[in-house]
Amino acid sequence: MNSPKGLELVERDAGGVDLAFRADVLAGLAEQQKAIPARWFYDDAGSQLFEDITRLPEYYPTRAETEILRARAGEIAQLIGPGRAVVEFGSGSSVKTPLLLSAIAPAAYVPLDIAGDFLRAAAADLAAKFPGLPVWPVEADFMRRVELPDAVEGQPKLGFFPGSTIGNMVARTATDLLRSMRETLGVGALLLIGMDLVKDTDVLIAAYDDAAGVTARFNRNLIHRINRELDGDIPAELFAHEARWNDTYARIEMHLVAGADVSFTVSGRRFAMLAGESIHTENSHKFTRRTANMLLAAGGWEPRARWTDSENRFSLLLAEARPPRSAP
Ligand code: AVJ
Repeated sequence: MNSPKGLELVERDAGGVDLAFRADVLAGLAEQQKAIPARWFYDDAGSQLFEDITRLPEYYPTRAETEILRARAGEIAQLIGPGRAVVEFGSGSSVKTPLLLSAIAPAAYVPLDIAGDFLRAAAADLAAKFPGLPVWPVEADFMRRVELPDAVEGQPKLGFFPGSTIGNMVARTATDLLRSMRETLGVGALLLIGMDLVKDTDVLIAAYDDAAGVTARFNRNLIHRINRELDGDIPAELFAHEARWNDTYARIEMHLVAGADVSFTVSGRRFAMLAGESIHTENSHKFTRRTANMLLAAGGWEPRARWTDSENRFSLLLAEARPPRSAP
């Protein structure tokens, strides 16, 4: 393990309040178009609700990406080759990560996550499934360059970033992340990354506004988290879940729309909203082959291969960190 048990990267005040959470919420609620970064969805309840989302009939991305990993395991393994240290950006999912690792004969597995407890639990699970595979969890914020364990120095690297999590970021942030990944992994590294595809708007809206209302609960859970952790009194029942297609940026946006004029307090600060105004809580960008390749290239990654599921809903791309060149 890279850091002693109990050490947390999260900074808290004397009362246990996550300072970054409070700063993001207070700044976001002070904007004209209120907005809170999507990463704050994932407390324990939110992580469980996301698990539930992945099993919804309308939410295709998880099933489509898993289908690709199963159906194309041979080709993927062929291009990646054996003996790479797999560096996963995030703690790893119980299904996709084992599919990849059993396909490619990796030298080591290095999951990176800021949430230490979750990271260690997931790493222990994985180590039990793959006896003999060295597992080196690193507690780190992977939006910056990460110092990898000495044990994998000199091994060729494969970055793994499934789930279309890159789609949560606006282009500028996504580019910064891809460049950080390149610094973390080094020239010559490969990156296997999931990106969800542009498709019929009705299909997209349904995936983010399911009939059972699970995504609505996932969205509204953010209000409950703010009320609980930041001493808020936002009337959650007054806010409606909405999934919107933004055609300029090719993304689904999730909003919490005030159903009436409201005012509320968070961490001692007062905020007011008019009926119909919203808090923007998530972007989920959708890509085409070209926009995916363009984004990868902007981040310093040259596209090498691309796979889609049988219904062309989701793409998995393999890219390579090539040495910089000045021309053309
Ligand atoms: C985990 C970011 C890939 O954007 O599809 C699912 C999160 N939000 N339903 C996505 C999410 C609403 C998901 N990602």
